[in-house]
Amino acid sequence: QQDIPSLKDVYANDFLIGAAVLPDQLQGPQADLLKKHFNSLVPGNAMKPDSLEHTKGVFTWDDADKIAQFAKDNNMKLRFHTLVWYQQTPNWFFQDDSGNWLAATPENKQLVLSRLQDYIRTVLGRYKNDIESVDAVNEVIDPSQPDGMRHSKWYELTGTDYIKTAFETAREVVGPNVKLYINDYNTEDPTKRDILYNLVKGLLAEGVQIDGIGHQTHVNIDSPSIANIGASIDKFASLGLDNKITELDVSLYNNNTDNYGSNVPQDVLIKQGYRYKELFDLFKEKHNEITQVITWGIADNETWLSTFPTTRTNLPLLFDTQLQAKYAYWGVVDPS
Ligand code: XIL
Repeated sequence: QQDIPSLKDVYANDFLIGAAVLPDQLQGPQADLLKKHFNSLVPGNAMKPDSLEHTKGVFTWDDADKIAQFAKDNNMKLRFHTLVWYQQTPNWFFQDDSGNWLAATPENKQLVLSRLQDYIRTVLGRYKNDIESVDAVNEVIDPSQPDGMRHSKWYELTGTDYIKTAFETAREVVGPNVKLYINDYNTEDPTKRDILYNLVKGLLAEGVQIDGIGHQTHVNIDSPSIANIGASIDKFASLGLDNKITELDVSLYNNNTDNYGSNVPQDVLIKQGYRYKELFDLFKEKHNEITQVITWGIADNETWLSTFPTTRTNLPLLFDTQLQAKYAYWGVVDPS
C-alpha cells in the first residue's frame, strides 16, 4: 500500500468518493485500496435484475449481500444500481409463463407494472436499511427517438408509466431517507440533457418524488467538454435536484477502434491525468451541487472498457493494473 493521500480525506468537505465493485474484490490488496481511498460503494453488477432474480421467483442474494456487508463493516455508503434497465434484465418480466413475449395490451401493461412493483418491494425491502441511494431507472432516454424515450420492452409494454411506478414503489419501500435517482450517460449532451430535464420536470410536476440525477460520466481524454458537463449539473441543480457522478472513467481513446495494445504511451497517461484534474476541478467548484463521485471500478486490472465497445487495452481509472497510483490519481489529488 503506497503512502499517499487518501482520496476520501482529500474530498471530505466536498462529496463522497465511491467505486463500483465486484464481490471478489472485497479481499486482499483491492479491499485494502478500497478501504484507504473510498467511503462509498456500488455493485458493478450484483444489484441488477439479472443478478438478483434471474429466474422468476428465485432470488440470488449472495453477491449483493457480500457487498452490502462489506460496506457496513467498513462504514461505507452503498448505492443500489439499478432497479430498472433495458439491459441485464431477465426476459420473464416481459413474457408469459410459457416464455412467449407479451403483446402490448392494457392487461399486460398492468401485469408488467405489478411484476415491477413485486420486484422492487422484494429487493429494496431487503436492502433498504443498507443503502444511501438508488438508481430507480437507468438509461431511459434515447435522443434518436422522436419522443426522446428509449423504446425498450418496458416502454413497449407500459409507455413511460414504468418510470413513475419505479419511483413511487421505491419511495413507498424506502421512505424519505434513501435518495432516488434517474441515471444516464451523455447527460452533458445538450439535446439529451434537455429531454431528460423535461421528463424529470414533468414527473416532479405530477408529484413524483425524485431526489437527483445520476450522471454516468463515461468520458474520454478529449471529450465531452468541461463546460457542457458543468452546464448540465447546473441545469438539474436549478430544479432543486442533487447530482451524483455515478460511473466515472476516462477512456484513453476518442474513438471505438484504436488500440495501444501493450504500448500505451506515457504522454497519453499524463494527458489523462490532466483530464482527471479538470474534471475534479469542476466537481470541486460545484461541490454544493454534487454529493458523490464514483469511479466505475477500482483500478485498471478490472474495467468494463477492456471489452466495451471492443476488446482492447484501456486504462481508464485512477490506479494501474498493479494497484499503484497513476498520473490520473495525482490529477484528482491536485485540484486548485
Ligand atoms: C457494466 C458492467 O461494468 C459490466 O461488467 C457488465 O458486463 C455490463 O454493465 N452503464 C451502466 C452500468 O449503467 O451498469 C454498466 O456496467 C456500464 C454502463
